Amino acid sequence: MGKPNYINGFSKLTNQEKVNSVAYFLGKTADDFSILNQFKLPNSDIQTRLEEISENVMSSYMLPYSIAPNFLVNGKAFMVPMVIEESSVVAAASAAAKFWFNRGGFTSKVVGTTKVGQVHFKWQGNGSVLIQHFPKIKEALVSDSEHLLANMKKRNGGITGVELLDFTQKLPNYYQVRVNFETADAMGANIINSVLEEMAQSLKHYFADNFEGAEADCEIVMAILSNHTPESLVECYVECDIEELAEMSGSLSPADYAQKFKTAVDIANIDIYRATTHNKGIYNGIDAVVLATGNDFRAVEACGHSYASRDGQYKGLTTVDIDNGKFRYTLRIPMALGTVGGLTTMHPLAKLSLEILGNPSARELMEITAAAGLANTFSAVRALTTSGIQKGHMRFHLNNILNTLGATEQQKLQAAVHFKDKKVSHKAVQEFLGK
Ligand code: MEV
Repeated sequence: MGKPNYINGFSKLTNQEKVNSVAYFLGKTADDFSILNQFKLPNSDIQTRLEEISENVMSSYMLPYSIAPNFLVNGKAFMVPMVIEESSVVAAASAAAKFWFNRGGFTSKVVGTTKVGQVHFKWQGNGSVLIQHFPKIKEALVSDSEHLLANMKKRNGGITGVELLDFTQKLPNYYQVRVNFETADAMGANIINSVLEEMAQSLKHYFADNFEGAEADCEIVMAILSNHTPESLVECYVECDIEELAEMSGSLSPADYAQKFKTAVDIANIDIYRATTHNKGIYNGIDAVVLATGNDFRAVEACGHSYASRDGQYKGLTTVDIDNGKFRYTLRIPMALGTVGGLTTMHPLAKLSLEILGNPSARELMEITAAAGLANTFSAVRALTTSGIQKGHMRFHLNNILNTLGATEQQKLQAAVHFKDKKVSHKAVQEFLGK
């Protein structure tokens, strides 16, 4: 094997030159990549705007943009935009929204919206001296970064706490300044990071101005927001009389079915294998709304998973309470969402999603998003504890296989009838089509 050639200046190439470069790299021609052009939007202004969002862009990767209607959240009806590639998720969200529409809907409440940032530094001095200096250090950090927060303050945001943490027992000379923020309707990642970098500089100056010798220096390791935001939390529940579960309890009494549903949820609270899948079912709904509204789904997922492990064991994010003849299914989930700034205003479809939701505040968006997560896990656990998950999936699975095999519309209609009471597999569909 020859020595690989390093490709210089790829980012500087035009769109077509990038395609040529990829084609050359793979021993193909640009014509082999014509699909990339087919996925570009005819409106060149919007296409350019999309291309400017990221780097080295060659095309647009499109995902289905769907609506789950009839979401009753805190007494208000919403049509919820969802962007997701997985079939059945939107159907599951819609089915749960329908079930709960006449049973009080989703009650969703933001518990807190605190975001967190950290300045990590090393300092070779006495920790107790640092603690004595900290009130002054804090004053300097806050006043030096104040100018960056002027806009946020107008929207009742800003810094709500600054503390010093001593980690020297775990890592020699390592300290941390932890800062709490309220970021109003912005997710706030950019502003938090700017403030933290400014604070890091102030910290350096403070040591230089107030100490001598080795103590006059501090090593800034890094300054960055934390995606662990356990206090940016939303709680959402659905509740009904146990008797109202009759519609889904099948041969079980509603009371026995409620217990079965609870057992399924409790399993996720004691077993990590089930917990991960259970939470994935929640994130089916959450991620879809987060993506549709131009928010950062990796951040939302990361904080949800760290929150799920908060007491040392990874657990499901939902609980079931059966009490006084009532069934209540609750989701507690942290998330940091914004409705201004970033992609929420830059991506035309994210903007549209927010419009469809009535231009919510960040808190309202958290409440709606949590409802979508709860809806999806409700439908998933409902299916798992009744008919199984495959029954609902099969219609979409069949359609995907038919499309892959190039079936005509007529064949699709015939296949839908044929496979109504038969197992769907790639081979069975192939045989049905005579391929
Ligand atoms: C599939 O996308 C999601 C489920 O696996 C969730 C669950 O098991 O609770 C059905």
